Amino acid sequence: MNGDLIVKDLHVSVEGKEILKGLSLEVKKGEIHALMGPNGSGKSTFANTLMGHPKYEVTSGDILWKGESILEKETDERARLGLFMAFQYPVAIPGLTFGSFLRAALNARLAPADPHANGKVPTKKGMPPKEFRELLRKQMKMLKVDDSFATRYLNDGFSGGEKKRAEILQMAVLKPEIAIMDETDSGLDIDALKVVSEGVNALAGPHLGILVITHYNRILNYITPSRVHVMIDGRIVTSGGPELALELESRGYDWVREEVSSR
Ligand SMILES: Nc1ncnc2c1ncn2[C@@H]1O[C@H](COP(=O)(O)OP(=O)(O)OP(=O)(O)O)[C@@H](O)[C@H]1O
Ligand SMILES: [Mg+2]
Repeated sequence: MNGDLIVKDLHVSVEGKEILKGLSLEVKKGEIHALMGPNGSGKSTFANTLMGHPKYEVTSGDILWKGESILEKETDERARLGLFMAFQYPVAIPGLTFGSFLRAALNARLAPADPHANGKVPTKKGMPPKEFRELLRKQMKMLKVDDSFATRYLNDGFSGGEKKRAEILQMAVLKPEIAIMDETDSGLDIDALKVVSEGVNALAGPHLGILVITHYNRILNYITPSRVHVMIDGRIVTSGGPELALELESRGYDWVREEVSSR
């Protein structure tokens, strides 16, 4: 229970339209799960709901983390509890360097939840700048990102591949307990895919649960999932081992749809 993410019969609406229609899933620390499914099936909706995006309204069901419901918690609080999300489309913030962004995010993550902060990030001193710079340098080296990264503005003018590496770098620095990666592999060339996968593998271990949302089997050649789930029309309709991803790649989704409709 401790360290498990448990999603129970989750129903979610966006602007009054039901998108998730009874999604159930469990991810334990130390496990890697892959979530696949056709465009529009609700994968990103699920990821956004996990992080507490205000546009996504949970109408029934629950999300438990370490045995407690997180539905009432704001996004920053979820991040402090160890949840992390790499977005399908990361935003650019001109004027904020990647280094200062990371340091602020890390200090927010390290700050203990303050019951009097009223949802605001507590103003405690975090990691000393020197220690932070050393941590950052070490992680940048591991991910083979250029040192200049830290002084560039967040995602501003980053190439597609650089954005994805930046997300993995965030993950390396923030050390989450559950990481959700929404199409971190899309738009990566083969070398970048390897670097990103190696980064993920270096971070994987008994302290981290990973949910990889992807359309392609190729990232799963580098990151081996313990389970593969298929989402269609807002629910997980079938799950299996890594071989399921291969089958989907060769046969598409129609056979899954047929199986579901004949149940
Ligand atoms: N913020 C939003 N406003 C309006 N509709 C939304 C919003 N977010 C999701 N939807 C709708 O919910 C449905 C599921 O979208 P979602 O992005 O979750 O699919 P997906 O499985 O991630 O697809 P893809 O594989 O293309 O990334 C779509 O019909 C989409 O238009
Ligand atoms: Mg998506």
